[in-house]
Amino acid sequence: MKQVTVSAPGKLMLLGEHAVVYGRPCIVTTVNKRMKVQAALSDESIFKLAAEDVAINEYAKPLDRIGKDEIPPKASFVEMALRNFYLKYKTISGVCITTSGFSSDFGLGSSASVAACTVKALSCLFDINMSPKEIFDLSYQTILDVQQEGSGFDAAAAIYGGTLYYTFRGEIIEPLTINGLELVIGYSGVKTDTVSMVNLVKEKMKSYKKGVEKIFDNIAALVIEAKEALLMGNWERLGTLMDFNQSYLEDLGVSSPKLNQMISAVRLSGAYGAKLSGAGGGDCIVALVTADMRKSVELAIQGAGGETIDTGINVPGIKTEEQMK
Ligand code: MEV
Repeated sequence: MKQVTVSAPGKLMLLGEHAVVYGRPCIVTTVNKRMKVQAALSDESIFKLAAEDVAINEYAKPLDRIGKDEIPPKASFVEMALRNFYLKYKTISGVCITTSGFSSDFGLGSSASVAACTVKALSCLFDINMSPKEIFDLSYQTILDVQQEGSGFDAAAAIYGGTLYYTFRGEIIEPLTINGLELVIGYSGVKTDTVSMVNLVKEKMKSYKKGVEKIFDNIAALVIEAKEALLMGNWERLGTLMDFNQSYLEDLGVSSPKLNQMISAVRLSGAYGAKLSGAGGGDCIVALVTADMRKSVELAIQGAGGETIDTGINVPGIKTEEQMK
């Protein structure tokens, strides 16, 4: 039976989170942690899913019930990707899917990667030639179907890879050629629920729209400048802009005492700049460093009660690992 394995990386937001949901640009890089989706055609008219990393062992559904009835949250990105693929291409057959990869705990974009891998794997199984933008559109639709909110930057990172300048719904997806970017990533130990953080900002918007729009405009301006700093390798400037971005995120109310503590610690230990990365509330911070600062910044994160995540960045996007007829 025809079978394919596809992998895609996780992501790390560098600058512009939250503002990107309201039409401003952001910059995202990929991390060297990959989700893998293995998909195989089957003779049975059934969809089967095994995802041991999220404790799903024998999930199965008849093809005519896909996307309907109860869907376990952990299965939803795969199942909705499958439904959207079938709706778009009107091709259907039994399929067995197995997923594996990194933990969803750190906020590194495992769900978006899984959605993208599922779409790409199905396109291989059914011999449908999809462009990266078509894979993006279907993956982003899947994310919206499951969580109703999101700019799509995580799906773009998973598919295009590298480091991207990105705007809402993928209107601009611009790969940035960068060299020598050194980051230290620190996990706060607290898992964030992205949708509640996006809703928190939505509430802020309702209570003082003018003020929040102003903050978003300020973030947009610094993201545009940061893109130049990043391309030029002007780390000092980039660090300063990251620090300003953090202040704006604090104004939006999405930082936390633990994140602030870790950020202060890494700044004191010499990092060029630091900020939370992603939705806030918990998850990770990102610190901009040089190779010789790395050790002291890592120790600072651990001293502030965080955990360092050792991973490369700026890695390739989605790819087919193997295919068998
Ligand atoms: C979450 O990682 C980043 C947000 O900007 C949401 C999004 O862009 O989808 C808060």
